[in-house]
Amino acid sequence: MNDVIKAMKERRSIRSFKPDMPAEADIEQILEAGLYAPSGMGKQSVITVAVTNKEIRDKLAADNCRIGGWKEGFDPFYGAPVILIVLAKKGSFTCVYDGSLVMGNLMLAAHSLGLGSIWIHRAKEEFEMEEYKKLLADLGVEGEWEGIGHCAVGYVNGDQPEAAPRAKNRLFYVR
Ligand SMILES: Cc1cc2nc3c(=O)[nH]c(=O)nc-3n(C[C@H](O)[C@H](O)[C@H](O)COP(=O)(O)O)c2cc1C
Repeated sequence: MNDVIKAMKERRSIRSFKPDMPAEADIEQILEAGLYAPSGMGKQSVITVAVTNKEIRDKLAADNCRIGGWKEGFDPFYGAPVILIVLAKKGSFTCVYDGSLVMGNLMLAAHSLGLGSIWIHRAKEEFEMEEYKKLLADLGVEGEWEGIGHCAVGYVNGDQPEAAPRAKNRLFYVR
């Protein structure tokens, strides 16, 4: 099995992270891997906002928790110190597909560097809120954006989880 396929099979969603901040060079490599995801008509319109600021990270966690309907205080990012928010340009025909492929690249790249990651949902609802639209505007991002997902990244706390058995009868062949 080659290294890429091995990484695909071994990557798992991590639900307990250490608070330590990963090296900036690793985060940069993960972000760059996202830039190389395929996109419909090669438009490359997906953007990623890397949040390492603890105050903003904690505020995102609190809003995500509220949107998800959990009890106040639950951290939907499971302690991850880095949150990579993937957003796709609204109106682009393939925006959700494009953004999802970026998410996949980010998670796989994190795993390949020995970091844990997980897709955390509800970015769509967050970026319908005025304050997060303002955050984008403050970063100089113009236009309308749909939140696709958060890729929470950090060092794994504990053991690497095992994959659930693969569901059966999902492959078909026309030979
Ligand atoms: C679109 C999408 C949204 C997800 N949202 C969440 C989430 O909000 N919280 C969470 O704990 N896991 C979330 N996950 C992670 C899945 O639960 C996880 O991928 C699944 O259980 C399979 O585990 P694996 O990634 O280790 O293979 C999400 C995954 C996807 C693809």
